[in-house]
Amino acid sequence: MKLSKVLYLTVMLVLVLGAVSCGAPAAVECPDPCPPCPECPQCPDCVCAEAAAPAPAPTEAPEEEEEVAELPYYAADCAPNCTYEDLKVGYAQIGAESEWRNANTSSIKETAEQLGVDLLFSDAQQKQENQIKAIRTFIAEGVDVIGHPPVVETGWETVYQEAYDAGIPIILVDRRADVPEELYVSYIGSDFVEEGRKAGREMAKLLPEGGNVVELVGTVGSAPANDRAKGFREAIEEYPDIVILDSQSGDFTRALGKEVMEAFLKKHGDAIDALYAHNDDMGIGAIQAIAEYGLDPGEDIKIVSIDAVRGAFQAMVDGDLNVTVECNPLLGPQFYEMALKTANGEELPRWVPSEESIYYPDNAAEIIETRKY
Ligand code: AHR
Repeated sequence: MKLSKVLYLTVMLVLVLGAVSCGAPAAVECPDPCPPCPECPQCPDCVCAEAAAPAPAPTEAPEEEEEVAELPYYAADCAPNCTYEDLKVGYAQIGAESEWRNANTSSIKETAEQLGVDLLFSDAQQKQENQIKAIRTFIAEGVDVIGHPPVVETGWETVYQEAYDAGIPIILVDRRADVPEELYVSYIGSDFVEEGRKAGREMAKLLPEGGNVVELVGTVGSAPANDRAKGFREAIEEYPDIVILDSQSGDFTRALGKEVMEAFLKKHGDAIDALYAHNDDMGIGAIQAIAEYGLDPGEDIKIVSIDAVRGAFQAMVDGDLNVTVECNPLLGPQFYEMALKTANGEELPRWVPSEESIYYPDNAAEIIETRKY
């Protein structure tokens, strides 16, 4: 064997032994010469190089800035996790002037009980000053939300501002108030102007030849009285032969409806062809007055009214009322749903409209069985 070949084989053997010892634990001696790093981590060069190398910077996750959403003024202390059981709600009701109002009160009270809401309820006996007092009491009690059907449209700004300053949201229920938009969080209820238009269109169908109409207006200055008068006039504008002969308030009550209708009959007698009543209760009171006067209500004097309460269905079954335009009082479920959202700091739609129909005598007997109010 040639000397160069012997030398070559020796070097190879050393390299192979080195490679074997590289995979061995640290106690194994390093081969000489050491192969270059990183083939043999035990070699002093490697150890030195590793020791000298700067430790890699720990890879820390970038600190996430926690975003704390600012809650609006109306959020309750329990926001954003309030449940119905956490809610303390004040409801400043108008009174008990009509079947409609009583149905609205029942809906508000019964739904609170079902959901476990702590409800403070006040009946203002149709007086604005009593409603203002009730709202102030609710503020002092620290309720989370106030529900308010304002008896009239104007005169609420001061007390609503007090609620706003106390961080208590107001939800308008059933009726609107004439105040700056930021003083209430939502309105749940009907389109009273549209109800008036529907009544006007129905009246036009009942008086194809035209005729004289008397109008029983709701509470003076209230949103439904203002709007139902407006919508009706808009609708009959295209029928110049339909004339509004007289118009007086019956304050949405049966007793006053009867009294005012008696006065209309005394003044205009047989010249009256039809009655437009802003609610069923006044219409039902007027039916009595017409019958007592000796005329046939629903026949001699056509009648259109608004609400579609059970009493109106009975009047249609009896043939005394021609049409009732629905105004839904069962607002409890929608009200508490909105109250909870508000308490949790959620923004509400400016208006949550009610769905409503028109009813006629043909199927009144069937519907009255299932009517909830
Ligand atoms: O605001 C709704 C009106 O108020 C109803 O039509 C009437 O019956 C009630 O008293």
